[in-house]
Amino acid sequence: MSNLTFAIIKPDAVKNNYVGQIITMITEAGFKVKAMKMTRMSQDSAKGFYEVHKERPFYGELVDFMCSGPCVPLMLEKENAVADFRKLIGATDPAQADEGTIRKRYAGSKAENAVHGSDSDENALIEIAHFFSRDERLNNYTN
Ligand code: RTP
Ligand code: MG
Repeated sequence: MSNLTFAIIKPDAVKNNYVGQIITMITEAGFKVKAMKMTRMSQDSAKGFYEVHKERPFYGELVDFMCSGPCVPLMLEKENAVADFRKLIGATDPAQADEGTIRKRYAGSKAENAVHGSDSDENALIEIAHFFSRDERLNNYTN
């Protein structure tokens, strides 16, 4: 089991000025920030990142949303990182998310839901590599 997961503070949360509060929730939950940046995804990058959803009806809308403004990708470390982070963010639809979760507090809708969290160890490593160069990753792995 890997101790790493990958997260994105999505463009809606950046626009709404929630970056600080969300990072505070993440670190107070015991995650260590191992890499972080602010970037704006290109269409190609967003299409590739969400390729698994390309047959879904919301794919085009999702890609446009993820490119609509800057986002904040994060490499996070904690024991049981993937599952614990999914618990911290709550259900995809904020209306279904538990009290005290990031999406319950900061997400406006199922489509614009404030944060992304990897769903498996394998995808966490793929997603980290999608956003962070080898140098950015290695620099942090050795800390
Ligand atoms: P994520 O990948 O962003 O962490 O979200 P998730 O696992 O909870 O949800 P997933 O099924 O992987 O969906 C990816 C993202 O697509 C958008 N979505 N829109 N309009 C809709 O019905 C709908 N359903 C999903 C959300 O931004 C969701 O996080
Ligand atoms: Mg997902």
